[in-house]
Amino acid sequence: MTSSRPKTQELLEVSRAYEPDCMNWQAPVVWDHASGAEIWDVDGKHYIDWTSGVLVANVGHAHPVLARAIAGQASRLLNTFDFPTPERLRLAEKIVKATPAYLDKVIFLTTGSEAMDAAMRLAKRTTGKFEIVSFWGGFHGRTFGPMSLSGIPKIRRNYGPLVPGTILAPYPYCYRCPFDKAHPECGLFCLSFLDEVVKVESSGSLAAVIVEPYQGTAGFVFPPPGWLKKLEAWVKSQGLLFILDEVQSSFGRTGKMWALEHEGLEPDILVLGKGIGSGAPIAALVTRSGIISCLERGEMSSTLGGNPLSCAGSLAVFEIIEKEGLVEKAAMNGAYLKSRLLALKDKHDVIGDVRGLGLVCGIELVLDRKTKEPATDLAKDVVLRCVERGLMVGKLGLHGNVIRVAPPLVITPELIDRSIAILDGVLSGL
Ligand SMILES: Cc1ncc(COP(=O)(O)O)c(C=O)c1O
Repeated sequence: MTSSRPKTQELLEVSRAYEPDCMNWQAPVVWDHASGAEIWDVDGKHYIDWTSGVLVANVGHAHPVLARAIAGQASRLLNTFDFPTPERLRLAEKIVKATPAYLDKVIFLTTGSEAMDAAMRLAKRTTGKFEIVSFWGGFHGRTFGPMSLSGIPKIRRNYGPLVPGTILAPYPYCYRCPFDKAHPECGLFCLSFLDEVVKVESSGSLAAVIVEPYQGTAGFVFPPPGWLKKLEAWVKSQGLLFILDEVQSSFGRTGKMWALEHEGLEPDILVLGKGIGSGAPIAALVTRSGIISCLERGEMSSTLGGNPLSCAGSLAVFEIIEKEGLVEKAAMNGAYLKSRLLALKDKHDVIGDVRGLGLVCGIELVLDRKTKEPATDLAKDVVLRCVERGLMVGKLGLHGNVIRVAPPLVITPELIDRSIAILDGVLSGL
């Protein structure tokens, strides 16, 4: 596949020589540059992007406003550690004002994992308790705390003993309901089951519940409407903290600025990442004074957290999203994209399920629609063929059989049509 692309071949050999094999599998492409929702590799081959990196480049690749902000800041001031800078303070004000009104404090960190780890630590410190409920299929990062919360077996395997006190409960993966029930007749049985899980597993020291508004790594799994709000009500009725991991669902991705807006959720701790910098490395933990005031001076900070470079980048992201109406575009173009994907489902039996909100959709491939046997190898083949034809795409999911559709929010209907035509051609040729 790479033989007609000599620079790609050469660089992949360097990768094989010097890099370990532990990163995620990707089609054999070496990216050179990108713009908006389009990518060019080192041999000049062109691709339409359905990845946004990994749901990072929400404002599009190499946006000139973001590039200028980062370059300008780089030549002015790069790091101050915890000394405030105008950029950090402007961003703090912006985030507090853009999130629900009762959230009044924000601390910046560098990665989603670090911010999730900080959320776990804060939950323990502020409640004095240590148990945290998280969900089957959940993914919250690769550092030890968030990894311990993961409900994906291969993330936890071989790393025990993990951080004690994490309790896993079922998430509503309705296409593969673990209770073999169907929504809405199920009456959200999985939520009532949470009571049983906690009754059996908790030692009486529950601090918080941590959840993704939709599960990313598990295969873009969306809970049925009302599930999150009901979960929140349960969390509050138990006197626990409600922690929402919006590391990948925020900054317009789902057609709202924050995914919490779809059901009017009111998390005690909101964690942001990925799109917040659209490539500038930054993450944030947003909460209430009453929760975070338990921390003493110096108890939570990080060498690169809130560095002026990333803060300038994130301010530019806000500016671009607002000026270009990217949240509205994500909702509108996302609905169009999903309708085109659903039409492909009618045409190709290999598509078992299409699900999505805004510009994040999963296409679950199966060998048989009745048995729902995951088409894991086929998904890899589909990715390779799409990439060969100029559609940059990846796969994910508990069974590795979900095609990841998460383009930059600047993707146009015309690029959507072209990318759908590529996928349609690939599925027709299987
Ligand atoms: C929901 C969610 N939380 C946390 C993380 C971890 O973020 P990072 O890779 O920036 O550490 C991810 C990354 O994919 C994620 O999807």
